[in-house]
Amino acid sequence: MATLRTPPAMAPVPGEALLRVEEAPPLLVAADVHVGLGSWEPRAPRPYAATGSGLAERLIAVASREGVSRLLLLGDVKDPIGRVPWWLRDELGSFFADLTGAGLDVEVVLGNHDAELAERMPRGVRVRGAEGLLRRQVGYFHGHAWPSDRLLRGAHTLVMGHLHPGYRLALPREAGGSGKERCWVRTLFPPPSPSELARSRRHPFPRAREAIVLPAFNPLCANEALNRSAPARGHRFMVRRFLARGRSRAFLLDGTDVGELPWGPSPGFGDQDAEARPLNPGSPPRGAGPARRRSG
Ligand SMILES: [Fe+2]
Repeated sequence: MATLRTPPAMAPVPGEALLRVEEAPPLLVAADVHVGLGSWEPRAPRPYAATGSGLAERLIAVASREGVSRLLLLGDVKDPIGRVPWWLRDELGSFFADLTGAGLDVEVVLGNHDAELAERMPRGVRVRGAEGLLRRQVGYFHGHAWPSDRLLRGAHTLVMGHLHPGYRLALPREAGGSGKERCWVRTLFPPPSPSELARSRRHPFPRAREAIVLPAFNPLCANEALNRSAPARGHRFMVRRFLARGRSRAFLLDGTDVGELPWGPSPGFGDQDAEARPLNPGSPPRGAGPARRRSG
């Protein structure tokens, strides 16, 4: 059986939908970049920030600011969901060329939107399938399908995308509020019981003690209001198979803890642990301080 040890420290980059992992050298993780979203007609108008050039520019800028040269794209790199349409080929090629041209070492884990992506990947970009990637007790996978048995057995921390998590705030935009915002989800799991581990299943029981779900990186992505409605059909697999077993909290991009999400077991597990180890501890207001790192 794989031994679970302490994974590397990791924390969101303040104000960004990006996770920094303190590997050596450090790694930036982005999920649901959806290059091409909104381009269903050629030359359809889109905000620059949501174009391939704008998305690459943002990734490069944050990587430079953070002093990070490694980037992991955690699924749904492109849009639409099927094959790569002719009008997207140049934009997708330029997106990767911009990243690698800026000196970033890029790795991709495929998501449910990434049909045909592997065949179109430029040289030098490593591609992993939906089975994900296990590195230093962290299991990275998109979240739409089961990851590998090795990942399920060996990961202390699961890092996923796919959910497009959002949080509906009390005040709508018309009333001066910010409406629905992208958020992070952090879930803490109880240790698996002997009966759970012994149960005969098609897939090994996940040994992970926590999961982190990234917000969608593309600002045009629709986000689910997880505090208001049940997860959409395409996201239920991830919630039922992974997140619902633990207790989940949502955090806005500035680090604000907006509370527990309405799924999971009854209270009793993990209260103290969750309070002692928030996703983004001691968060100052956006832009008010340097990047913060979770220490353990
Ligand atoms: Fe997505």
